[in-house]
Amino acid sequence: NPKEEFLNVPLLDFSIGSNRDGIREALGQLRQRREGDFPRILPFINGKPVKDCPHFIASDSPEETGFTLGTVGMVGPEHLEQAVEVLKGGFAKWRETNPALRARVLFKAADLIEVSRSELVALIILECGKPWIEADADVAEAIDFCRYYGKNALDLFKSENLCAYDGEEDHHFYEARGICGIISPWNFPLAIPCGMFSAALVTGNAVILKPAEQSTLVASRLFQIFLEAGMPADVGAFLPGEGETIGRSIVQHPEIDTLVFTGSKAVGMDIIREAAVLRKGQTHVKRVIAEMGGKNAIVVDDGADLDQAVKGVLYSAFGYAGQKCSACSRLYVHTSIHDRFIERLTTAVQSLVAGRASDPSVDLGPVIDDDAMKRINGAIASAGLEAVMGRLSADREAGRYIPATLFVEVDPDHKLLQEELFGPVLAAVRVDSFEEGIRLANAHEYGLTGGVFSRHPGHLQYAARHFRVGNLYLNRSCTGALVGRQPFGGFKHSGVGSKAGGPDYLKQFVLPRIVCENT
Ligand code: NAD
Ligand code: ALA
Repeated sequence: NPKEEFLNVPLLDFSIGSNRDGIREALGQLRQRREGDFPRILPFINGKPVKDCPHFIASDSPEETGFTLGTVGMVGPEHLEQAVEVLKGGFAKWRETNPALRARVLFKAADLIEVSRSELVALIILECGKPWIEADADVAEAIDFCRYYGKNALDLFKSENLCAYDGEEDHHFYEARGICGIISPWNFPLAIPCGMFSAALVTGNAVILKPAEQSTLVASRLFQIFLEAGMPADVGAFLPGEGETIGRSIVQHPEIDTLVFTGSKAVGMDIIREAAVLRKGQTHVKRVIAEMGGKNAIVVDDGADLDQAVKGVLYSAFGYAGQKCSACSRLYVHTSIHDRFIERLTTAVQSLVAGRASDPSVDLGPVIDDDAMKRINGAIASAGLEAVMGRLSADREAGRYIPATLFVEVDPDHKLLQEELFGPVLAAVRVDSFEEGIRLANAHEYGLTGGVFSRHPGHLQYAARHFRVGNLYLNRSCTGALVGRQPFGGFKHSGVGSKAGGPDYLKQFVLPRIVCENT
């Protein structure tokens, strides 16, 4: 009910047998695809599959080399032109559609995602190597985005008279910008494209979804759900393809007004540069919303609750094998508790098991692909330091498994603390004071998330003021933001734009207008 207060959908309780059975059954059905009857995923324009794709790629599970889940048709430049022509027509009508009807599409999509929950969780587990609980959180977040933005849109589109004087009316209202290009990453394969897509759609824009190459099957299901939920066929296009080709063409297209990107800093900055060029036929200045990388720090203070800190750091650093922009990869530990804390953290890291994400007992799944495997292993090997490592599951087959890895007594200038590795690697630094921990935590190009474990109220207040990141978490993990409760996003080199899942997000997708009438 759109009038009810927004509440986050609860996560599935896997201590309940039927919830486990649902996922197992869905995993079983996906595994049958190994026998060769895997689906062909096609792009969609105007509600119809695109059959003349110039080439296809296989979407393989990172769990096991050669485990193909589907083949995906990649679009060419002519498909982008076709899509833009269709979307221009669709946009003209969708912009004028009653906002309540647009919101209804999101509410219906949320319900459909909920109905398909087990199937989507299983697909995320296998296509992206995300463990059960986190795959379910991804699906829950997608549901939340649809319901939250649906409700927000109902308020946003109320026209308001700003004038307090007789004889004049000043109507302030918002309208859609035009065609939005959504370019999404693979690490939240459902939630992130769903959040960006649903926000663009509910505000009356026509939308192109270009998902990451590694997570196209999940994105394709999402797109089908929006069609089923009543999105007009000429208002959405699903254009899978390589970032370098179709991604770049979307960015450069003169008739695409808004670019909504989540991914790496390098690509984000490239998009911002390209979008600033005015091209022939372009009638507007492009807006870019870019959520980029992180290299997030946690500070563990003198007198912190060490049980809480070990648990929080472990989850922040190694949840989804560290493949979250919010993950903790830098740790600053007060010297007075350093040795006790590191001893406990070491034992905890050594107990973590990396293996198939489809096995609910493993702690870390595989990393996403061979490039990631090479990059992360290269950084571990070239660190020149001895690492504390977790275990590898005996059951794993050929795949891309990297055990949880901890480096201790790392020099604050070490390269391990500079680049975003996007893997299960944590570097710990000894600091002489809480303030030094905060200073080093801040001394980075990124400003996305951060965490503090402390029992000193003064230190918590100090951190709240001086630890400058988009999302700061006190005495809990620094990942796992919830829609509406911890709107998510950073600044510095972590991105531009207001927070996803927050009250300002939708305003980025609209043009504010004033109509002044002398009455
Ligand atoms: P990526 O930057 O490699 O790719 C993201 C998307 O951009 C993909 O769809 C890709 O095809 C496309 N792309 C690549 N080159 C392009 C180009 N030249 N022009 C247009 N599009 C192009 O990122 P990834 O590996 O998919 O995701 C991991 C990164 O995303 C990490 O850096 C992570 O921190 C970041 N991330 C940030 C957030 C956030 O909210 N801040 C959330 C999730 C992930
Ligand atoms: N929103 C995600 C998190 O908070 C990235 O972990």
